[in-house]
Amino acid sequence: MGGGIAQVVAASGRRVSLYDAAPGAVDRGLATMRRSLAKLAEKGGADPDDVLARVEPVDDLVPADLMIEAVVEDVAVKTELFARADGVLPGGAILASNTSSIPITTLGAATSRPQSVIGMHFFNPVPVLKLVEVIRGLETSDETAGAIVALAQDLGKTPAEARDLPGFVSNRILMPFINEAAYALLEGVAEPEAIDTIARLGFAHPMGPLALADLIGLDTCAAIMEVLHEGLGDPKYAPCPLLRQYVQAGRLGRKSGRGFFAY
Ligand code: CAA
Repeated sequence: MGGGIAQVVAASGRRVSLYDAAPGAVDRGLATMRRSLAKLAEKGGADPDDVLARVEPVDDLVPADLMIEAVVEDVAVKTELFARADGVLPGGAILASNTSSIPITTLGAATSRPQSVIGMHFFNPVPVLKLVEVIRGLETSDETAGAIVALAQDLGKTPAEARDLPGFVSNRILMPFINEAAYALLEGVAEPEAIDTIARLGFAHPMGPLALADLIGLDTCAAIMEVLHEGLGDPKYAPCPLLRQYVQAGRLGRKSGRGFFAY
């Protein structure tokens, strides 16, 4: 998602520094951006070279007005990154997270500027989907929230605000839906294709829940269910054993070539 976010920010005319600790990740992100920009250019979108010229790969965090973090859904990794960013970005800068479920208040507490820490949650594929879920931590200031709402609008997105409670709104609704689809598969209610066909044609969803889980990443889905389970304390949110097992097997969805479906 980091590449998609970098793409929409660069397409709005802003300069972006793109950093990923994993070797090769920035190059993969740039390749995905190039493919997406080419599709959009066919429909009259911006010249891909112009947009990509505003994206600079960097080897570490750099000073900027805004950081949008999109690392793995692991609270230890995110808090370590926020603490480090707090030391690198200038005092007035906003530190935003694209987290799907880690509390913004926890990320804010890892910094000396919780008033400038906020959730800016995009949806995959970022260049296509219009929503940005904006989540204020306990200490997030009105000024920070206002700046992020205005930025989302300027990127051509529609912001919607949610409170900092487990899963916010989007994943409080989406993940139990996906988890229940995994249970339907586990219990042999239907084959994967039938489960997805029922959601696509019966509820007019653009993708079935299993294909969507593969797009999001099964590790991410399982991690979000754990956050809902722990945070809300209700056993109904426990990740489906099949979801856990696929993650243990390395079947993470599209990114690993296999999840509920093969790619
Ligand atoms: N960049 C640019 N354009 C893209 C694109 C990309 N990455 N992906 C698709 N498109 C364009 C296609 O070119 C196509 O354009 P035209 O209509 O002009 O031809 C259009 O989008 C539709 O794409 P497709 O025809 O290939 O296929 P589709 O109609 O099935 O749409 C989809 C693909 C947009 C992914 C659609 O299936 C969809 O919206 N799926 C649901 C996605 C969703 O629910 N995402 C949210 C996941 S939750 C999340 O991200 C956050 C979280 O916290 C877990």
